[in-house]
Amino acid sequence: MLTLLKLLQDGRFHSGQSLGAALGVSRSAVWKQLQQLEAELNLPIYKVRGRGYRLQRPLSLLDQESLNRSDCPWPSVVLDSIDSTNAEVMRRISAGYIPPFAVAAERQTAGRGRRGRHWVSPYAENLYYSLALRIDGGARQLEGLSLVIGLAVLATLRSFGVTGVGLKWPNDLLVNNRKIAGILLELVGDPADICNVIVGIGINANMLVANEDIGQPWTSMAAEVPGLVDRTALAVRLGQYLGDYLVRHRDEGFPALRAEWEAGHLWQGARVNLIAGAQTITGIVLGIDSTGALRLSVCGEERAYSGGELSL
Ligand code: BTN
Repeated sequence: MLTLLKLLQDGRFHSGQSLGAALGVSRSAVWKQLQQLEAELNLPIYKVRGRGYRLQRPLSLLDQESLNRSDCPWPSVVLDSIDSTNAEVMRRISAGYIPPFAVAAERQTAGRGRRGRHWVSPYAENLYYSLALRIDGGARQLEGLSLVIGLAVLATLRSFGVTGVGLKWPNDLLVNNRKIAGILLELVGDPADICNVIVGIGINANMLVANEDIGQPWTSMAAEVPGLVDRTALAVRLGQYLGDYLVRHRDEGFPALRAEWEAGHLWQGARVNLIAGAQTITGIVLGIDSTGALRLSVCGEERAYSGGELSL
């Protein structure tokens, strides 16, 4: 089925005969596979007499070989369908795979978002990417890590021409207050000793309509910059920026990246509500401290918060 999809991904018409010849199967077998594609992957296929079949719009499938040919510092595997790339990375770590390595997928059936939310992950539309990292430098190596990942995603999006994109503490990426990418860090092991961090990144790439409720305002790269996003190029670029920022974070520590993070923060100086546990705190955003905690001015007094959900 994947081979058929690769033939159709250009969005042009292909005759049943040419598809059958390329796949080495009969035209009726092609027809069956096409029906399966439509039903399982929710990909509408048009049939026009005399011209053949085409997808509703072109797709950009991930190419594992290109990912591994790039100068990304870790190996990557591309899966067709998985519950969650973060969950898959965890299973691979338990099975003895040694970080760093990355897992990307064409779709997730149980994509995980922050705070137990579901991450909508339609087939071949967006980027679902998880990186396994081994942390053996103790707590200092974790300090600000999730914010640094945000910087790498920000640089990636900007390099694809997305303008007006910025960060919302701790690591959401927004354009005009609509979410374009999210980051979920999960930790396995003892943070004070040796542990593994699973860095899960979801970037809305080619999604223009959602078949499920996303539950918050959202946008995508394709909605901001015309044209189909090459998802392989996106994953390659993301790997390169992650590599660069992780080296800077390891060598120089988070304080060296703090000013850059604040420059990319969309809500500097804004009046915000922070939901932290059962509390809602209202204050003015002053910035972040050298550990990545949010500095708020609350009733004229400066306070730092290491976790929570911000809203305007
Ligand atoms: C958020 O809620 O903002 C975080 C979303 C993180 C989604 C990504 S998609 C790849 C990885 N696998 C998951 O299940 N979640 C993360």
